[in-house]
Amino acid sequence: MSLERVIKEAIKEVVPDKELVEKARKAEKIIRDRLEKVLREYENIEYRFLGSYARNTWIAESLEIDIFLMFPENTSFNELEKTGIEIGKRIVDAYELKFASHPYVHGVVEGVEVDVVPCYKLKTAERIKSAVDRTPFHHDWLKERIKGKEDQVRLLKKFLKVANLYGAEYRIRGFSGYLCELLIIFYGSFENLVKNGAFWRRNMVIDVEKREIRVEKGLRNIFVIDPVDRKRNVAANLSLDNLARFIHVCRMFIQNPSLEFFREREGNVDEKKLIDELKNRFVHAVVFEKPKIVEDNLYSQLEKAEKRLKKLLEENDFEVLRTSHFAGEKCYILIETSADTLSGVKKHIGPPVESYKNGMRFIEKNKIYAIFFEDGRYTTYRRRNFRDVRDVIEYSIRNHYPSMGKDISEFIKNGEVLSGLHILGIREIRNHLGKFLGVI
Ligand code: UTP
Ligand code: MN
Ligand code: MN
Ligand code: MN
Repeated sequence: MSLERVIKEAIKEVVPDKELVEKARKAEKIIRDRLEKVLREYENIEYRFLGSYARNTWIAESLEIDIFLMFPENTSFNELEKTGIEIGKRIVDAYELKFASHPYVHGVVEGVEVDVVPCYKLKTAERIKSAVDRTPFHHDWLKERIKGKEDQVRLLKKFLKVANLYGAEYRIRGFSGYLCELLIIFYGSFENLVKNGAFWRRNMVIDVEKREIRVEKGLRNIFVIDPVDRKRNVAANLSLDNLARFIHVCRMFIQNPSLEFFREREGNVDEKKLIDELKNRFVHAVVFEKPKIVEDNLYSQLEKAEKRLKKLLEENDFEVLRTSHFAGEKCYILIETSADTLSGVKKHIGPPVESYKNGMRFIEKNKIYAIFFEDGRYTTYRRRNFRDVRDVIEYSIRNHYPSMGKDISEFIKNGEVLSGLHILGIREIRNHLGKFLGVI
């Protein structure tokens, strides 16, 4: 199929069907009625529907209505937080608290997910107190400009979702909804975006407002200037590797356009292949309980622990091929090394023979093995602290846990190390493990 044809077909698939739109409209109406009623009891608090629902850029599987409660600028933070939650609870049927810059209510109305977020009502974007205060300005900037291009945004969101690149949260580190809308406005269409995306580079500045792109020397990752706050990078949470993945998937799509790019792949990784790979390689998993903390916080701590373990392994001379983390029912850190056992000794190189004093100090400090010379330097052997990669991991989690993330460290300390085929016992990480090992 041609690119144009695929896009035409894909649009049909990403536009929510009539029943779902109807269901959303029903929920919207109920929410509006409840808001009108409840807000009568409060002075000066207004509400606005913002986010993708208000602009018709939402996709079916993540329908969610974003409502912002607008408080007068002189309201205290505490008051805004307390009253925001109080009102939110009265609007939705079932709720839970979530956290952005401050807590907000996430719930359900008539089977539709709803976010009720308190923020300040401000005259200009310069007076922003927290990230959510920017949202009304984002909406005002996008509202007219996105008209007629809603389905292009939906295509992009779905394309990114399938590639695991949609969402600015720490777990994903990809493209936010707002970034998607800005990119569609800048490039005019999904097709034009992917055609250009295939040639993106990391040191690019995209100025949506001025409609220009420039390359900036020394820039380490793409910078998309927020039209509402020009100092802010809308793509700040996009990781370099995810930028690379995006550029790559644009190329793959252009070279071989297909509807597969818009369809979630189902099915599990082949167990036989996993077994073969695990037998042929050295893979370990640290398994531990999951603390009840905010998602972004959890993932940044998992990353920290992962990096720390990698460093400790390298300090013990293990070549680390790759590390990764995953959170499901429990937390997991995966580690692959190029070997799992090293010699019981390591070579210890000392000073050149010309250095009389340092030479004497070297032999004084190294008495376990005989001295020999290599390239005219004092050299000897030393016993290694650990021969097995498993022992390094065990030792590290039992002793170095304090530097592995404040809320997860105690759990890591009491964690378990699984090796090789034993990792297969954990069903929830199989697919992740498949990706980690590069299984096709
Ligand atoms: P959403 O995450 O709901 O994004 O945040 P969206 O643009 O509606 O896209 P989808 O279709 O639901 O995925 C809506 C707005 O609320 C603010 C952001 O400014 C965003 O544009 N927001 C939301 C936050 O600032 N923090 C949050 O944690 C959530
Ligand atoms: Mn939303
Ligand atoms: Mn939301
Ligand atoms: Mn939700």
